[in-house]
Amino acid sequence: MMGNQTQNIQQAARLIRAGKLVAFPTETVYGLGGDATSDAAVASIYEVKGRPSFNPLIVHMHSIRQATEYVQLTPLAKKLAASFWPGPLTMVLRRGPECALSLLVSAGLDTLAVRVPDSALAQEFLRACNVPLAAPSANRSGRISPTTAQHVEEELSTKVAKILDGGPCTAGLESTVVDATGDVPVLLRHGIITADMIRDVAGDVQFARADSPISSPGMLAKHYAPDTPMRLNATSVKGNEALLAFGNPIMGAKVTENLSPFGDLTEAAANLFAMLRKLDAVDATCIAVMEIPNKGIGIAINDRLRRAATR
Ligand code: TXA
Ligand code: MG
Repeated sequence: MMGNQTQNIQQAARLIRAGKLVAFPTETVYGLGGDATSDAAVASIYEVKGRPSFNPLIVHMHSIRQATEYVQLTPLAKKLAASFWPGPLTMVLRRGPECALSLLVSAGLDTLAVRVPDSALAQEFLRACNVPLAAPSANRSGRISPTTAQHVEEELSTKVAKILDGGPCTAGLESTVVDATGDVPVLLRHGIITADMIRDVAGDVQFARADSPISSPGMLAKHYAPDTPMRLNATSVKGNEALLAFGNPIMGAKVTENLSPFGDLTEAAANLFAMLRKLDAVDATCIAVMEIPNKGIGIAINDRLRRAATR
């Protein structure tokens, strides 16, 4: 099995070098990867996702060392990298003077979003590719991010050259995005690395407003949406509704999925997208969601739930 996986990775890397797209797992969600140095490969990522081209992509690197070839690491970025890379933190930084990456990944901005993923498979794949990979989440634009290879298959099967299967993602929520071009980190997207964790390292943290010039397109209100309507903070449920529970479930739903029976937020984050997908498929009138505590990783979970409920 392991030998097979190494062959899979080698084959996938050859496909990347030939300009094709490969879906691969990271610790957060599955990514739709393409050679970030190739305009054609990056253009095909936008096309396959149906993504508005003003929404820039995250570029994945295997190490801090590789990142220094493409972006200007500010003192703040070095500090955050030392604490959180490899891991689920994306930093927006200025492109370096000799940055050889496609301008399309930046979608017209003079910055680049960079992330060094922690998953062993992603690391091995990035080293085998030997070029940075532009990789948004491997779903069609506006839909729920995939946390298993099966989800990617459902979303994009005919449109990728290969799907690397690394099993379910351990974190389950997209990376935290932080603008680290200045002295103070500006949080652009909530994630597993919380604002408190960033403040502990950097001394301070600011929050971007949706209308500020540095705001990230990922802050768009509607995002990650199932087709079924959703309602949040449910305290009761009707027989034709599906329930997304947390802790002790409310009784009476048509179908129930429990994010974490014992109220563990890390477990809830890892289950969130897969359970939303399941409940979206049961033909309920509504997905009712029980209250999630708004602390720690719960802040990122609630952020995704609010966007999923916006239509
Ligand atoms: O966990 C993740 O980050 C996953 C895995 C595959 O790594 N990737 C992911 O990519 O979620 P995507 O493309 O779905 O989200 C990229 C986010 C968007 O909110 C985008 O607006 C923001 O990063 N972004 C990318 N480049 C940016 C830039 N130069 N300035 C500001 N925001 C940027
Ligand atoms: Mg996405």
